[in-house]
Amino acid sequence: MRTQVGIVGAGPAGMMLAHLLHRAGIDSVVVELRSRHYVQERVRAGVLEQGTRDLMVETGVGARLQRDGITHHGLELRFGGQVHRIDLSDLTGGKSITIYPQGELVKDLTDARIATGAPIYFAAEDVGTHELDSDAPTIRFLVDGQEHQVRCDFIAGCDGFHGITRSSIPASALTIFERTYPFAWLGILAETPPSSEELIYCHHERGFALHSMRTPKLTRLYLQCDPDDDIGNWPDDRIWSELNSRFATDDGWKLNCGPIVQKGITPMRSFVAEPMRFERLLLAGDCAHIVPPTGAKGLNLAIADVRLMASALAEFYKSGSHDLLDLYSQTSLRRVWKVQRFSWWMTSMLHRFPHENSFDQRRQIAELDYVTSSRAAAQSLAENYVGLPFD
Ligand code: APR
Ligand code: PHB
Repeated sequence: MRTQVGIVGAGPAGMMLAHLLHRAGIDSVVVELRSRHYVQERVRAGVLEQGTRDLMVETGVGARLQRDGITHHGLELRFGGQVHRIDLSDLTGGKSITIYPQGELVKDLTDARIATGAPIYFAAEDVGTHELDSDAPTIRFLVDGQEHQVRCDFIAGCDGFHGITRSSIPASALTIFERTYPFAWLGILAETPPSSEELIYCHHERGFALHSMRTPKLTRLYLQCDPDDDIGNWPDDRIWSELNSRFATDDGWKLNCGPIVQKGITPMRSFVAEPMRFERLLLAGDCAHIVPPTGAKGLNLAIADVRLMASALAEFYKSGSHDLLDLYSQTSLRRVWKVQRFSWWMTSMLHRFPHENSFDQRRQIAELDYVTSSRAAAQSLAENYVGLPFD
């Protein structure tokens, strides 16, 4: 089989890329390790920046998002038992965020792909990329025991942090920048209406907690825990008791409880692989970078990458010019590092660090106090949270 762009991975990066390329008249083949059901059902992020939402709507895949997505114009920072609202829309000239689960976004894009009749392979085994430095890099894989080979002009690595595309680049051609954090997030999905209309980022001496949501009947909650902790140590009543302690306010705010239908512990890391291109292999999304989830940026950054990659490929096929392709890594990385900075900043402002001293704690509270009392500081948080403008 021959195609213009071979896409490895059918998560948000891979499926948005396939969609944008199709609209630009560029052929692609998508190859995904997991089943379609698995990709859509795994519990992932749920906050769309204004630009991510706009891209879905402007490119004709936003109907369900417009119907079921929940628009938020603000968020809450809670610390010292007090509630402080950041008015995102007021601070950003009317921008907002949309709550829409990542699985639903991937479903919309996958439905659009399947409607085009263009090739997409799920449950592919032994996926490998070959001849990356030739004019026809190739993806080989098995489906139902049958071998497939796709010869491409370009390969897009969209296969997440544990995928194979980044590791197929010679180690000497990549520089890795990394930070791991001395804590993790225990996340739950509970069948109960959200306890607040907006997201709550909560700083507490027992550790960070976050109140989010998926639908009007499903609440998503997180609490900071030890990175080596075992989910078996967290029976439901311990989780609720810990959440109640951390979210407690001076005015008696109540957290809605309900059956926990999913729980898990996620480690936190910041990671960047540079450059985001090796010969005819272009990387996007989690396979090139990971951010800690405190800024809600992973999904949005993946979408911003493929937006740039699709325009660079469109220019190449339209005019034969390599200019945008040659700038792809550099241009993407400017946004990646700004988002890394923001995600690190939110993380360090809101979490308990094991070796912090009383000076660090006072400084953290002063930072929260500043962000919630200075319009300039709040505006900086807000413009990053709703999404920086595209280059
Ligand atoms: N071959 C083919 N596909 C693979 C392989 C492989 N060897 N390895 C992994 N994949 C698939 C995964 O099964 C997954 O469906 O690649 C896809 C990568 O999707 P994501 O991990 O969602 O990464 P990305 O599309 O970059 O989106 C980033 O998703 O994981 C969240 O927090 C992350 O929100 C961020 C966003
Ligand atoms: C989520 O809803 O899963 C979520 C929301 C905000 C974050 C991270 C995760 O910062």
